[in-house]
Amino acid sequence: MDGRLAYGGDYNPEQWPEHVWDEDVRLMREAGVNLVTVGVFGWARLEPSPGRFEFGWLDRVLDLLHRNGVYVDLATATASPPPWFSLRYPQSLPQTRDGVRLSPGSRQAYCPSSPAYRDACTQLVERLAQRYHDHPALALWHVNNEYGCHVAQCYCPTSAAAFRDWLRWRYATLESLNDAWATSFWSQHYGDWEEIGPPRATPTFTNPTHQLDFHRFSSAELLDCYRAEHDVLRRASPGTPVTTNLMAPAFKPLDYWTWAPELDLVSVDHYLQAEDEDNHVDLALAADLTRSLAGGAPWLLMEHSTSAVNWQPRNLAKQPGQMRRNSLQHVARGADSVMFFQWRASAGGAEKFHSAMVPHAGTDTRVWRDVVGLGANLAALTEVTGSRVVCETAIAWDWVSWWAGDLDAHPSSDLRYLDQVRAHHAALWRAGVTADLVHPAGDLSAYKLLLVPSLYLVGEEAAANVRDFVERGGTVVIGCFSGIVDEQDHVRLGGYPGAFTDLLGVRVEEFHPLAAGSSARLDDGSTGRVWSEHAHTTGAEIVARYGEGDLSGVPAITRNPVGGGAWYVGTCLDATSLDRLLARVCEEAGVRPVAPAPSGVEVVRRRGDDASYLFLINHSTIDATLPGSGRDLLSGTRHRGTLTVPAGEVVVILEEDG
Ligand code: GAL
Repeated sequence: MDGRLAYGGDYNPEQWPEHVWDEDVRLMREAGVNLVTVGVFGWARLEPSPGRFEFGWLDRVLDLLHRNGVYVDLATATASPPPWFSLRYPQSLPQTRDGVRLSPGSRQAYCPSSPAYRDACTQLVERLAQRYHDHPALALWHVNNEYGCHVAQCYCPTSAAAFRDWLRWRYATLESLNDAWATSFWSQHYGDWEEIGPPRATPTFTNPTHQLDFHRFSSAELLDCYRAEHDVLRRASPGTPVTTNLMAPAFKPLDYWTWAPELDLVSVDHYLQAEDEDNHVDLALAADLTRSLAGGAPWLLMEHSTSAVNWQPRNLAKQPGQMRRNSLQHVARGADSVMFFQWRASAGGAEKFHSAMVPHAGTDTRVWRDVVGLGANLAALTEVTGSRVVCETAIAWDWVSWWAGDLDAHPSSDLRYLDQVRAHHAALWRAGVTADLVHPAGDLSAYKLLLVPSLYLVGEEAAANVRDFVERGGTVVIGCFSGIVDEQDHVRLGGYPGAFTDLLGVRVEEFHPLAAGSSARLDDGSTGRVWSEHAHTTGAEIVARYGEGDLSGVPAITRNPVGGGAWYVGTCLDATSLDRLLARVCEEAGVRPVAPAPSGVEVVRRRGDDASYLFLINHSTIDATLPGSGRDLLSGTRHRGTLTVPAGEVVVILEEDG
């Protein structure tokens, strides 16, 4: 690319007659678009029948874009095999847990383990790479699309065989598999590998470690699909970065910690839950997670929406200014691009009511004017490109623990991992503290404070890592139902929270999950929800106790005075109580907000080599006045001492004392 923030979206010219393409590029120039993703669902047009390739239309599209100064993120088109492929290779169609073979007729109808699918992908990618590797418009390769979005796990016989191979690789012997899966329970002992299948629908709870291993396998299997395409591109198109668009924050099936290192550039799609009033906080979590996957480096926002989507129960249009706030919020948190699904709203097909940069109603529309305005804003922010967000606080995040923690037959179905991570991240958001997400066994050396919400499954390495972090002076806050099991989902015996009992100076003898809708009052005025437990301190100081009921007087919040302090919270504090606790913890850990700001105003800093940029995003309906000095890159206004961010507006300051 050209040192600018990338701006554009998915461009699907194959849905339109060619004369529309001329208008497309004219409008792209008008909006300042400089990058489009082409060909995501182009397989049927690129290979209309087996082995017969047609590239003429794509040649013309790429040439036209290049003549108009627009770079291309070229998709490998493997996200949706064409109908002829499914007819020819019916075994390539995916099968659900209930044994239903899915049919073609929508998209992503393939089994990730299908050799026919994988071969066909490799051939197509080989052709594309040979043809376009030196095209001047090519900036980036876009492998597949949102791997696992619709079919993350396949239960067909081909997948079953691949799963058995994977299990042989993981366990080597049936004996160790039987141990790991605790198959002496319920007469599940396996005497032959062939007896094992994917965790298909069973009469009641399926063996948990079997389920957990199928999650691991399924994530790895799709990663193999990505790798196969990536390898072709590396060989045939050296020098051009390769990505695939991840989904954040709530995409559970793929362990992106294992994926991210294989992406030359991390990219992500994020869609708001339109009816959630705090959806900008969820956006912040998505962006923080993506930046963390990128190891702090700038990343690409590959898709979001200009206004409504088409797949939620009620697809609300974005409010005036919301699309701009969303976009600049991603940039504030480290994105070097703002891209949308899609460039021009489709006239036909299942996504015809999804918003786009060019709406059905044309350019005399608010959406189009906002698209043009945003293009100008991003051009004004060019110097921000490449700068980074630096954090002192991290939240532990682990897909494997998410998979295991959310399995069935647990003490309370109300305790959901993502809810807990969201609650902790939201509390930091309200406090104005920017946080990274980090793998519990990852590098913690940059942080002063680590939050560990309900991390149910913890391996030895992660437990030692957290301990080491605290001993070196870091402060940790561990949430309830953490450290309970090892990597095989076996309970750590001797008292909860297993992996962390020594570190926390706490031993829990029994869980007391709360009845639906009820709460637990603590003697410091806090309120716990969902969970309580019978804990004893074995060295920790008691910060708060249960104030009523069977557990009255039992420790609920504790602090072990080791290293920088090891806090334990044995319930799910409500938002007000969590805010209060984290304010105290942050103060003690020396973590401060990016800048003091009124409620609803988000402040994030990006740092360049010799400049720093303060993003101030006012999500509230009240104008906000804050301390700050420097030039607003969007308006050109120079502020000295204080500045005002009008309701719903965004200000980006090139800081004077950066
Ligand atoms: C994404 C997908 C796009 C489009 C979009 C609609 O999941 O990558 O192709 O379907 O959602 O919101």
